[in-house]
Parts: sequence; C-alpha cells; structure tokens
Amino acid sequence: MLVLGIESSCDETAAAVVRDGNAILSSVIASQIDLHRPWGGVVPELASREHLEKIEPIVAEALERADVRFSDIDAIAVTQGPGLIGSLLVGVCYAKALAYSLGIPIVGVNHIEGHVYSVVFENPRIEYPALALIVSGGHTNIFHIPNEGEYKVVSRTRDDAAGEAFDKVARMLGLGYPGGPIIERLAKDGDPGKVKFTQAKISDGRLDLSFSGLKTAVKRYVRENGIEPLTNGGEPTGAIKDLAASFQAAVVSALVGTLEKLANQLYPRTIIVAGGVACNLALRDAAGQAGNRLGVPIYFPSKHLSTDNAAMIAAAGHFHLRRGETSDLRMTADISMRLQNLENEEDALRGRGVKYRL
Ligand code: KG4
Ligand code: ZN
Repeated sequence: MLVLGIESSCDETAAAVVRDGNAILSSVIASQIDLHRPWGGVVPELASREHLEKIEPIVAEALERADVRFSDIDAIAVTQGPGLIGSLLVGVCYAKALAYSLGIPIVGVNHIEGHVYSVVFENPRIEYPALALIVSGGHTNIFHIPNEGEYKVVSRTRDDAAGEAFDKVARMLGLGYPGGPIIERLAKDGDPGKVKFTQAKISDGRLDLSFSGLKTAVKRYVRENGIEPLTNGGEPTGAIKDLAASFQAAVVSALVGTLEKLANQLYPRTIIVAGGVACNLALRDAAGQAGNRLGVPIYFPSKHLSTDNAAMIAAAGHFHLRRGETSDLRMTADISMRLQNLENEEDALRGRGVKYRL
C-alpha cells in the first residue's frame, strides 16, 4: 500500500510517500526556521501563509522523488492535530480535496502518534508493551502502549515542553533560535556539574515533569552571577557554556530519570524516544545507558525523522488504514487532539485541580 503523508501542524511543510508503512520512497520537508528566526519563535500567521505557498510544490516533489504519480497513491494520511489551527487547516483542506478528487481514502492522524511511528523505519519491529517518550517543542509526554494503537499517558509536563525550555533559555542568553541545537553545541564545551539545579518535585507524587521552575532558576542564576546575554552573535563565555551544559544535564536527567522509573513499573519490551529534542546526543546517551541498565532496547529515529516530517504521519496512517479506520470528508483540524484511549483520567485530574498539558 502506498500512502502519501502530509504534515503542516507547526512550522514544517512536509510530504512523504511510504510503502507498506515502513519503507520511505520519499520524504520532503520545507522548514520555516529562517522565516521565524527574527521573532525568536513561530509566528502562527506567517506559518499558515507559508504552508499555503509550499504545500503544492512539496507534495509534487515528494511524488517526483518517489517516482510515482497521483494515480499510484492508495491513501492519504494527514496530520489532524494537535498544532496551530491555521497551519493544520492548510494540510487538512489540501489533503481532503486531493483525496476527493482521486477517489481514495483519507485518514486524519494525531501528530504525537506520528512521532511514535517515526522509529519504524530504522529499527527492528516495535515489541509491545512499549513505553514512548515524545519530547519536542510543543509536547513532553511518556505513553504506555500495551498493544499497538493503545495509549495511556503515564507522565506529562505540567507546564513547558522540554524543547520549549531549551528555546526559552537560549533566548534568555541571547543565543538564537531554535535553542536546542545551539545549547547542545555549547554544552559540549561546558561543565554540566557547574550549576546544581534541583529537580522539580510534583506535589501530588505523580511521575510528571515540570520545566518552568528550571527556566526560572536559570534566569535567577544569570541575574545573580552577572551573566551578560550575547548580542549580535558574539563569542559565548565559559560561564554561558557551563550554564548550557548544566541546564541540558538537568533536562536530560529529569526526562531519563522519569522514563526509567516508569520502565521499572511497567516492564516495556521496547522504549521509544522521539520528537525534536530526541536529536540531542546527551539525551540519547543517557537514555541508551538507562536502556542497558533495564535490559530493554531503545529506539530512536534518525535526525531527519526526529523533527516534524510526513513519513511518520504516513506510517501512523498506514496502521489505521490497515485496520479499516478512515476519516470522512467532514473531518477537520483539531488543535487540542489527545492521544489517549485507555483509562482516560484527564477529567478526574482536572477535577482535582491538577493542571497539565497533554
Ligand atoms: O518535533 P519538533 O521539530 O517540533 C515540534 O513538534 O515541536 O521539535 C522542535 C523542538 C525545538 O524546541 C528545538 O529546540 C528542539 O526540538 N530541538 C532540540 C534539539 N534539536 C531540536 N532540543 C535539544 N537538543 C537538540 N539537539
Ligand atoms: Zn512534532
């Protein structure tokens, strides 16, 4: 089965042709990083306009690189949510029009489920039960996946996503955007033990995560130690490199520590670490070491598949299509789409005043 995947949930316009759910014939990504850089973050209005310009040529390029025609495509998988409304609508409307005109099925895919499937191309088969840490600029969740397609959130951030924390700290230090890769580069020359950040404690004892306190601690450290943010791409000082390394170590230790505690409770047969922050080699190293201690294989996507792409959307879509699950043409973008279909505890938590983002 040939699936055309389309992704436009945030600031990447992407299209991919995937055969049988795990063979990439093409994967094309137009990143908008340069467009948003002057503003230090994604500007939703600019993002949707850019998607509108790019979607047609990107899909055409994906077909060309795969050496297939529209008539060869069996189905379309498109990111339905979560994401920015204007951005999502471009992909969803385009995909629906295309599916209608070609007379082929369409399936709306949860972007986070897409990240879970980003590991299927370069790793052995996922063995269930699995545990998946999905960590990006918009999301930080750990899912328990007892069987394929069954998800329960077992840890989530109560405030900022980990990638968002990288971006905000980089901005605070005048390092540029996106922050993750820049902080990782500086951290290589810094001392991760220089600044001791305390790990956030969740008062109700759940294995949740929190990064806004860490961000505030970095801000306080900068103020109290007279660290000057860089201006106009100046050379970072040793103090900034040490701070970058210490901050990165704190994020990695929170993520991997929580993952390991959950793995010790849930006995997964595969651990998945995916999303933009999974590009980070310190995170990969620490997760790999945890995997060795646990005796559980850890699957990462390669760099191209860690950040937003359409191959992962096609792979997740393939799973649903194989089960006969398709969307009808009334399907529309869903900015707060959840990925949890087991024991939905969300309402109960909200009732107890627990605030978090899925
Ligand atoms: O998955 P993604 O492309 O988009 C979202 O769905 O959010 O992730 C982008 C995020 C950004 O916050 C970026 O700073 C972070 O991933 N990121 C990294 C690294 N590369 C990207 N964070 C830490 N280390 C990296 N090497
Ligand atoms: Zn993403």
